[in-house]
Amino acid sequence: MRQIRDEGIRFPDRYDKLPGVTKEFCESSIKYILKKIDENLEKFTYRFPAPASVNNVYPAIDNTDWTSSFWTGMLWLAYEVTGDEKYRRVAEIQLDSFKKRIDEKICIDTHDLGFLYSLSCVAAYKLTGNEEVKRTALMAADLLITRYFDKAGIIQAWGDLNDPGQRGRMIIDCCMNLPLLYWASEVTGDKKYYNIAYSHVSQAMKYIIREDASSYHTFYMDVETGKPKYGRTAQGYSDDSCWSRGQAWGIYGFSLSYIYSGDWELMELAKKVTNYFLNRLPEDYVCYWDLIFTDGQEERDSSAAAIAACGMLEIAKHLPLSDPYKRIYENAALMIVKSLAENYTTASCPQSNGILLHAVYSKPHRKGVDECNIWGDYYYFEALVRLIKDWKLYW
Ligand code: GLY
Repeated sequence: MRQIRDEGIRFPDRYDKLPGVTKEFCESSIKYILKKIDENLEKFTYRFPAPASVNNVYPAIDNTDWTSSFWTGMLWLAYEVTGDEKYRRVAEIQLDSFKKRIDEKICIDTHDLGFLYSLSCVAAYKLTGNEEVKRTALMAADLLITRYFDKAGIIQAWGDLNDPGQRGRMIIDCCMNLPLLYWASEVTGDKKYYNIAYSHVSQAMKYIIREDASSYHTFYMDVETGKPKYGRTAQGYSDDSCWSRGQAWGIYGFSLSYIYSGDWELMELAKKVTNYFLNRLPEDYVCYWDLIFTDGQEERDSSAAAIAACGMLEIAKHLPLSDPYKRIYENAALMIVKSLAENYTTASCPQSNGILLHAVYSKPHRKGVDECNIWGDYYYFEALVRLIKDWKLYW
């Protein structure tokens, strides 16, 4: 059997000390986020922020991209931390557009139905018990499982299932789409969603993660024979480098599959993937856009840092006190959040309607390079909420 190596932590001193992140620090960072949300509330009631900003300003778009729900998810977080009905009202207006998207099959050729419906309808159902949005989210789960190839045991990421360029391609990001399926099994009692999610994550563990615990961004499977083909990047530096955000999706995503399956192997994997990530952070703990870069002139990806912080906080929750990584991951998450709060927010760029500067959407496609991106804003907010309360996951 293939063994995935664990690098451990190469510079334990870096994660030894408790960074000064107090509850007051987090609350004041959240206050800034709420101020920015308030400024954006009208612009993004019936429309949504584009995935990435242009000159640090998000244009408004319809509910057509994979990212619409991150803004809705931020509204739910804002509602949770303040109890202010104005956030709930706007989030609920947006739920209509998520229903329309599923009913009318608008831009649904994607595995990102998981992101889209977890942070909109599932979050709404968990917080308000709204039965209608539960049905909408279940429709999304039903659509998501149509992308599953039985023989290969994977969910195809992008595009038409017969498109030869996309057929049988799975990507590391999909780990974050699986919670929609775990949730669907929980609320319906039908195991089929769970089985598909667990099969996918098991294949991802086997093929997307390399022996050194780094990740391919994408991996092709032969859907006719079920055999593995090869790894390819889409948004990373090269096929054999490790795209930072992909690794961050893995940190968080494998730990979420652990929660739903109880499979400790997934948690062990999440730890190895995390260690690889932590060993490649620059001085200020905010990764470059690909982990092949550890210093120099390349752009940072603040969004990957925020995702990884949430993932590490989740992992730490499940580790026993006797596991030294519990403290290391908590400290590392706090250091990242502190660095983001002190040096990466738009407080230094008042014309921006975003929250975190210096993210990269896709450098190879020259998309959203050194801009805000909406999922970075969401995960930064989620990390802070995790630090001030016992937050129940939308995932
Ligand atoms: N899931 C797409 C991305 O992270 O850019």
